[in-house]
Amino acid sequence: MRKPVIAGNWKMNKTVSEAVGFIFDLKNLISDVTDVEIVIAPPFLAIYSAAQAAKDTNIYVSAQDLFWEEKGAYTGAISPGMVVDVGCKYVIVGHSERRQYFAENNETVNKKIKAALKHGLVPILCVGESINQRESGETFNIIETQVTEGLSCLSSSEIESIVIAYEPVWAIGTGKTATGEQAEEVHDFIRGVLRKLYGDIADHTRILYGGSVKPENIDELMTKPNIDGALVGGASLKAEEFAGIVKFRC
Ligand code: PGA
Repeated sequence: MRKPVIAGNWKMNKTVSEAVGFIFDLKNLISDVTDVEIVIAPPFLAIYSAAQAAKDTNIYVSAQDLFWEEKGAYTGAISPGMVVDVGCKYVIVGHSERRQYFAENNETVNKKIKAALKHGLVPILCVGESINQRESGETFNIIETQVTEGLSCLSSSEIESIVIAYEPVWAIGTGKTATGEQAEEVHDFIRGVLRKLYGDIADHTRILYGGSVKPENIDELMTKPNIDGALVGGASLKAEEFAGIVKFRC
């Protein structure tokens, strides 16, 4: 019922030519995959070339962030319209690295989500607790606040297209993956929060897991009923490794 999404977040990695080379390699490796939505999020400067290389393939391109205004005096910022213009279908919003290093908060996340939806982009809203928050028993509170405030004032039809990525901060780039059980517990909780807010639409929302996903651990994660895919950082930088995740078995 929910088509899985496997998304690769390249973060601040790859030049234009590296991005294009990767897409050519990947499309050969996954040309037979039809039952998974495959998404790659290059840095802004490589998006256009990556999207051109991905044309007529089953690979979609995503931005890693955007600004909510349409145009104007916002030095260094990229608008939703610009992101659409270069060929993006998705945009990652509220990644923990944006929250940590670039002062992103639930209010700016909400503005970005609204701006993305207005332009027909599919937002991938990232939420996740830090290790201190987990150890002090705050995980569910933190997640509920991030989901509720991040999606504040959206209509049910807008919610329909949104993807959520649960990424425990302590698992990102650390090699320390949440166990299937730990992830499923939070995914189930997120679906419950969505159901409380938006009713049955919650059953259609794809909830991805992120944090040290690799070909070796994706199968177990994907057996869980509320895990609908993955947001992959480090292991999305090599085409063979990423293809191994796209071709998960469960
Ligand atoms: P990681 O990153 O797979 O390298 O842990 C995940 C992410 O930040 O989305």
